[in-house]
Amino acid sequence: MNVAPAYALPKAELHLHIEGTFEPELIFALAERNRVRLPYPSVDALRNAYEFTDLQSFLDLYYAAMNVLRTEADFADLAEAYFARARAQGVVHAELFFDPQAHVARGVPFETVIDGLWSAVRESERRHGVSSKLIMCFLRDRSAEAALATLEQALPYGDRIVAVGLDSAEIGHPPSKFERVFARARAEGWKTVAHAGEEGPPSYVWEALDLLHVSRVDHGVRSLEDPLLVARLRDDRMPLTVCPLSNVKLRVFDTLRDHTLGRMLDEGLVATVNSDDPAYFGGYVGDNLAAVAQALQLPPSALETLARNSFEAAFIEPAARAAYLAQLDAAVAARV
Ligand code: ADE
Ligand code: ZN
Repeated sequence: MNVAPAYALPKAELHLHIEGTFEPELIFALAERNRVRLPYPSVDALRNAYEFTDLQSFLDLYYAAMNVLRTEADFADLAEAYFARARAQGVVHAELFFDPQAHVARGVPFETVIDGLWSAVRESERRHGVSSKLIMCFLRDRSAEAALATLEQALPYGDRIVAVGLDSAEIGHPPSKFERVFARARAEGWKTVAHAGEEGPPSYVWEALDLLHVSRVDHGVRSLEDPLLVARLRDDRMPLTVCPLSNVKLRVFDTLRDHTLGRMLDEGLVATVNSDDPAYFGGYVGDNLAAVAQALQLPPSALETLARNSFEAAFIEPAARAAYLAQLDAAVAARV
């Protein structure tokens, strides 16, 4: 199968944790810059530790590596490195999740995190031709009160944030726990998204829709277990930000051949493909598209549909959406 379009087609990436783009080489470079001792002797030793049994086993390492991020420049360098990699895989628009609670709890001020990320976001269009937005996530394994306190901290930076999200350990932390926080976020003018149905049951996806009023569901792969939910997602044209390599690394599916992305498209769901935490899961968004298209033998039209869906689901103005879709049409016509 020709995987070139997986890389070449213009696309938006909508499910990307910026802290999950922290490549081992950069972890070591920033550890040296900040004089932080790492519990691994080398880049290879760190990379060799990327064997996960479930979401929690990954999160343990993900939060530990973040300890190296200390200054505004660190956050800017992290995001800048992502934009360069993403552009090389056809990304023209990216919406970046960030986890402020994981930094503030270590003594890094909220302002340091958002100023660093914002400087890279401001430069991404000029340097790489990638437009970008920030989505602030609440850690669902912490309290609703802690999420509300984070929301309050973000208020002075409201215009730098397009949406709030919900991530971290899913099971035992249903969306309902954050109903009031999300209502407040919507009242402040932010859109909402939430991880749901990654490891958690379809009922969590229902709650994300009905209680959090999300505009997209992150992952949502377990929705296929519930036919009524599939009908609801299809009828609402509710986007699902699917992350195939992540799902295999975190053992949601045994192999890529077992992934249900093909079924989701057959069901008429607005699925998109994304990289989640590419430094940990073995590839960026083009790599995800190429690997899943190959494993599931998706027709070439599926890659085009996925790219189209990514623009339909992006939090962008109508004129920008039209321009990106025209760019996609031109690429398809030129058979990139
Ligand atoms: N934080 C970073 N990656 C995540 C994922 N795949 N699920 C939940 N929380 C996350
Ligand atoms: Zn995620």
